[in-house]
Amino acid sequence: MTDWPAVALSRLDDALFITDRSHQIVWQNSFSEELFGVSPEDSRGRLVSEVTGIQQLIPLLDDLFEREISREPVLEKVETVINFSDKRHYFRIAAALVQEADDFTGALVQLTDITRFSEMEKFKGDYVSIISHEFRTPLTSVVLGVEMLRTGMLGELNERGEEIFDAIGDDCTRLTKLVDNLLELSRIESGTIYIQAEPVDAAELVREAVRPLKIQAENKGISLVTELPDVLPPVAADFNKTVWVLTNLIGNALRYTEAGGTITVQVRVGRRRLYFSVKDSGCGIPPEYRDQIFEKFIQVSGPAKRKGGAGLGLAISKEIVTAHGGEIWVESEVGAGSTFTFSFPLFRREGTLG
Ligand SMILES: Nc1ncnc2c1ncn2[C@@H]1O[C@H](COP(=O)(O)OP(=O)(O)OP(=O)(O)O)[C@@H](O)[C@H]1O
Ligand SMILES: [Mg+2]
Repeated sequence: MTDWPAVALSRLDDALFITDRSHQIVWQNSFSEELFGVSPEDSRGRLVSEVTGIQQLIPLLDDLFEREISREPVLEKVETVINFSDKRHYFRIAAALVQEADDFTGALVQLTDITRFSEMEKFKGDYVSIISHEFRTPLTSVVLGVEMLRTGMLGELNERGEEIFDAIGDDCTRLTKLVDNLLELSRIESGTIYIQAEPVDAAELVREAVRPLKIQAENKGISLVTELPDVLPPVAADFNKTVWVLTNLIGNALRYTEAGGTITVQVRVGRRRLYFSVKDSGCGIPPEYRDQIFEKFIQVSGPAKRKGGAGLGLAISKEIVTAHGGEIWVESEVGAGSTFTFSFPLFRREGTLG
């Protein structure tokens, strides 16, 4: 009788392997034979990490067998060069526990080729980067021209004219920020984020970020306070990029807090890390959004969405913090406020991070 499940698995456009507890291959489907150029006879008894050239499979499987639960651990975008072509391939890898009544415990490893998808993603990133660059030059001359007209350098404007040019000026500022953010993000996504970590005084970082926003806070009727410990050890950080993160968090707090509210910028010292937080008494963030807002273009729906941002600030902040070996998260209560915190490794004498 035909073994239909085996036929179906062999037709699948994913490479499948079953390994025993010691990661040795006991079965593979025919797609994996083609992809990695090994027959079942060649691969039987060899390590799956060796046959596929994917070293990340070792900790993935170790973890699976150690926990003995069949929740699928997944690796996204693992890169490898496969045998028959010099081209880099990207895989999404899932592994699940296989348990048989006769005591066999093994793992099913599924490799999905996402090379095309990754290439498209890269193409999209390049495209965004080119377009943002192309926007920048004409935008600069528009900003300059508007500024000249607004300040009356080219002749007096009537009241209506002033209003119009003020509005155009504000829109130009917003557009410039958006273009800068898109450029920054495409730079980060193409892997060219360059963190120049030096020993930095955290108090100086906070001062630098708070200073330009003080007036904005006063104008909005919000008090912006800082709480710093007397002694702060140096943190390993890229000064400008960290100021950028703080500025963005305080900027958000200003945007989502009503007049009469308070924003507190705090620094706390842990054993190995320094914690920066920006706490506001604003509208808060519903629980279902608390992870999502760190992804690009995600904004909480409702009135906040109309406040003019593009939803890029936190995505960029997360990339910058992660590139420093730190973490960023939010605690929030709807109607009561939000606290955004990020941690950075302390600077070690030997110059190592962490
Ligand atoms: N302090 C806050 N209080 C309430 N909601 C917030 C706060 N900070 C961020 N959010 C929510 O998270 C979303 C994403 O923030 P993010 O900084 O990434 O984008 P943005 O501020 O909307 O736009 P951009 O930063 O690109 O100008 C915001 O649109 C808002 O809905
Ligand atoms: Mg923002």
